[in-house]
Parts: sequence; structure tokens; C-alpha cells
Amino acid sequence: MRSILASAAIILIAFLSITFAQSPPAADADRGAQLAEQQCLRCHHPGGDSPEPEQARIAGQNAPYLTFQLQALRAGARPSETMNPIAAELSDQDIADLVAFWSAAEPKGSAWDGQDEAAAERGRAIFADGDAAAGQIACAVCHGDQGQGVADLVIPRITGQAPGYLTAILAEFAAVPDFGMAQPNAMHVVAAALSETDLDAIVAYLASQPWGAAP
Ligand code: HEC
Ligand code: HEC
Repeated sequence: MRSILASAAIILIAFLSITFAQSPPAADADRGAQLAEQQCLRCHHPGGDSPEPEQARIAGQNAPYLTFQLQALRAGARPSETMNPIAAELSDQDIADLVAFWSAAEPKGSAWDGQDEAAAERGRAIFADGDAAAGQIACAVCHGDQGQGVADLVIPRITGQAPGYLTAILAEFAAVPDFGMAQPNAMHVVAAALSETDLDAIVAYLASQPWGAAP
């Protein structure tokens, strides 16, 4: 009897160690910082203050969104010539550590100067109130009244995002309804209803807001 119990205990311990070996260890933000320095900072500057308008700002973006995007970029479900090969090299542990670092990084990026003011004003109206005649839902309904996003719903921060990146991703949402996002249709419906002028307006508004403004 005792030996049966002992074997059961050994099997249980063996099972638990396999289970533990398979589940990723806790995220290590210090290791994430090292990985970021080696692999990310040349494009995504710390604090999001990259001067390049094509680069996505990721410092201070919510953790569920960053995790989801890195997994989608790694799997190729979200196509990106630049990010697919980089993400393909990341393990689950690397993603956990990088996300711990980037989501906690203080977003310092300033607003993008040089946005067309009239366009930004039109963009603010679409952001806050939508445009019923054009079938356009207010962005704030899902992204929050300061564009800060909703982490639990995997909805990203968008105010202060880089203008070149905003233009590109909104065009991508309009053209490709499903590229592996959590809620693939939400942004397709939104972006497909935007006229070209309104797309420029919303980009001018979002880019003219500071990244990481307090919610
Ligand atoms: C060679 C430049 C470059 C490097 C290096 C780079 N990125 Fe990117 N990253 C981009 C670009 C450009 C985009 C926007 C997508 C696109 O245009 O292909 C992007 C997009 C992203 C996104 C999606 C952001 C969003 O708002 O949806 C995440 C997350 C990301 N990168 C994380 C990382 C991480 C983590 C590293 C380091 C392991 C890294 N990137 C290294 C250029 C780079
Ligand atoms: C019905 C909810 C909803 C509405 C309304 C909405 N969004 Fe989104 N948005 C999302 C979700 C969810 C995502 C994450 C991507 C996904 O899962 O499809 C997203 C992603 C984005 C992104 C990508 C950010 C990044 O870093 O990659 C941008 C930019 C964006 N939205 C802009 C807007 C703008 C501008 C409007 C208003 C014209 C808007 N959204 C309205 C739900 C919404």
C-alpha cells in the first residue's frame, strides 16, 4: 500500500514538474530591458520619443495589446516586413519579458508638431462624437475619452501615436478586414467608413495629442 502511495506521489511530482517546466516562468522586466536594448531601441526609442513618424510608439502601451501584437507578428498573422522576422525569433519568455519592460516604460513622447490645425479639429470631432451621417462611430467609445485604450479588452492607446504609423495602419484596417486581430471586424468597419479627408483629419488630431496623456 505504502509503495503504491509512494509511486503515486512520485508520478504526481513528475507530472507537476513537467507542468511547471512547460508553463513560462514569471516575466522579468530587467531581462526585457536588455532584450529591448539589443533588439528594439534602434527603431522604437525609449519613452516613445522616436523622431521617425513611421515607427509605432510602444512605450507605455497596455500589456495585453503588446502581447497580442507580438504573438500575431510572430505567427505572421499580422503581416509586417519589418516586424515578422524580428518577432519570429522571440520565445514566449522573451515576449513576456519584453512586454513587462515596454508596458511599464514611461511614455514620454511629445505630440507631433506640424499637424494641420483645421484637420485636427475635424479629427477631434470624429474622435469624440463620430459622424452619424457617414456611419462613423466615435473612436472614444472603444478607445476611451483620452484615447488611452482599455487593457482588459485588448484595445490600444492611440492618442499621440506616430502619424505615419496611424496612416498606414488605418489604411491596412480598411483594406484587410481580418489580419489576426482579437476583434478583426471592429477596426475594419471603422476604417472602411472613413473618407480620405477624414482619415487625414483623425491622424492629424491623434498625432497632435501627447502620447501617454493621463487618462
Ligand atoms: C528595424 C526597425 C524595428 C525594430 C528593430 C523593431 N521594430 Fe517593432 N515595429 C517597427 C515598425 C516599422 C512597426 C510598424 C509595423 C510595420 O510598419 O511593419 C513596428 C511595430 C511593432 C509593434 C506593433 C505596435 C502596435 O501599436 O500595434 C510592436 C508591439 C513592436 N513593433 C514591438 C517591437 C519589439 C518588442 C521589438 C524588439 C524585440 C521591435 N519591435 C523591434 C520597426 C521595428
Ligand atoms: C468598436 C470599437 C472600436 C471603435 C469604435 C474604434 N476602434 Fe480602433 N481599435 C479597436 C480594437 C479592438 C483595436 C485593436 C485591433 C483589433 O483587435 O482589431 C483597435 C485598434 C486601433 C488602432 C491600431 C493601434 C496600434 O497601435 O496598432 C488604431 C490606430 C485605431 N484603432 C484607431 C481608431 C480610430 C481613429 C477610431 C475612430 C475613427 C477607432 N479606432 C474606433 C476598436 C475600436
